[in-house]
Amino acid sequence: MTIITPHLSPTLAANEKVLQLRAQGRQIFHMGFGQAPFPAHPRLVEVLQRHATVKDYLPVAGIPALHDAVVNHQARLTGINPEDYHVIVAPGSKLILFALQMAMSGDIMLPVPSWVSYAPQASLLSQNVVPVPTSISADGLTLDPDKLQHAYDSAKQQGLKPTKLLINFPGNPTGVTITDDALTQTAEFCRRNSVTLISDEIYGRLSFDRQYRTASTHFPEGAIVTSGLSKHLSLGGWRLGIGLVPKAMTELITSLNHIASETWSCVSAPVQYAAVEAYQGHADVEEFVEQSVTIHEIVNTYIAQRLNAMGIACPTPQGAFYTWPDMQNSIKTHTFSSSTALADYLLERHAIVTLPGSAFGETDASCRLRLSGCDYDGQAALELLRQVGRNELAQQLPTLAPNVCGALDAFEQFARES
Ligand SMILES: Cc1ncc(COP(=O)(O)O)c(C=O)c1O
Repeated sequence: MTIITPHLSPTLAANEKVLQLRAQGRQIFHMGFGQAPFPAHPRLVEVLQRHATVKDYLPVAGIPALHDAVVNHQARLTGINPEDYHVIVAPGSKLILFALQMAMSGDIMLPVPSWVSYAPQASLLSQNVVPVPTSISADGLTLDPDKLQHAYDSAKQQGLKPTKLLINFPGNPTGVTITDDALTQTAEFCRRNSVTLISDEIYGRLSFDRQYRTASTHFPEGAIVTSGLSKHLSLGGWRLGIGLVPKAMTELITSLNHIASETWSCVSAPVQYAAVEAYQGHADVEEFVEQSVTIHEIVNTYIAQRLNAMGIACPTPQGAFYTWPDMQNSIKTHTFSSSTALADYLLERHAIVTLPGSAFGETDASCRLRLSGCDYDGQAALELLRQVGRNELAQQLPTLAPNVCGALDAFEQFARES
């Protein structure tokens, strides 16, 4: 018997390490874990509590009221026709992404860099990853259509079977979003080559320009969208993910429901009722999302600005709560054999937890790190924003987010020393 890779996903592993170190009394600047810091919205908590006694199994794909709330929410954001989609809900979109990979045989094309779990999920399913290079400019992330086609053709020549492409924007790890042109060209590539597009839009509502971009409008017949409550409502632990599958893909939704029925059975009942409330567009919930985006924008833009000011190149984030610095130019005297060695050094010497670029498919030699800008008291940040507004909140970051600012001071020391 062979036991498959016995380690935790890097983000969760980083978080567990921080908990251990903090329990030993060490001061740690935690930039390793992408967990939105805001409290659960009271309206949703009330509905969750009210449904605590609903204890029977619910329909595998989710309750009809939740399906309606989800498609109508997406329709309000993007203009899609709610009638054109099947919906599935699961305990987190991570499971839907896994089920999608499982349901569609063949290999997966992944932009480099990509979120930590896509490639390990492929590997758990004995599928191959076809990497696709990307570039980041001031406009955002570009997936060059020629590079996409080249990656596809070369994979086929090597005997691989690329059948799906997974994109994510605003992106984890980069914090930047895809340009509209890149989205159009990506859809054209998929159509031309009969590749299914999986669009992970979990950070879609956290775009700093407040535009929700979706692959659905570019590729209505062939783009599957996943999302959930974890990021824009800071509800990762409630485990509620959604998937929208074009009606044309009836076989796929049947297969997803089959996988769901043999694995997670259904999403926790009280959570489904709370999710209906979350997707209904109540003004107070929408205001909470808007305030959360404002704070993410202030904190993560500040991180990028300070890094750039100390000579560490970092793209300006356009959404989510990540920054993606390239440490290359700031390392003058040390040599690091890999981004993992660099991340280890930063933890040992400067108490900063980061994730190495290699966890996101970058070459090990790259000096990229993913920083998550979430280590502050979200409740206090919301209260301050309501009291003093965004400009004054930005001024008060050193007291509001001492760990974030402390991490940047530690980076400054690193940049001076190294
Ligand atoms: C890019 C991306 N996709 C999907 C997920 C999974 O989210 P969940 O399973 O909580 O819906 C995450 C969580 O960190 C993420 O960063």
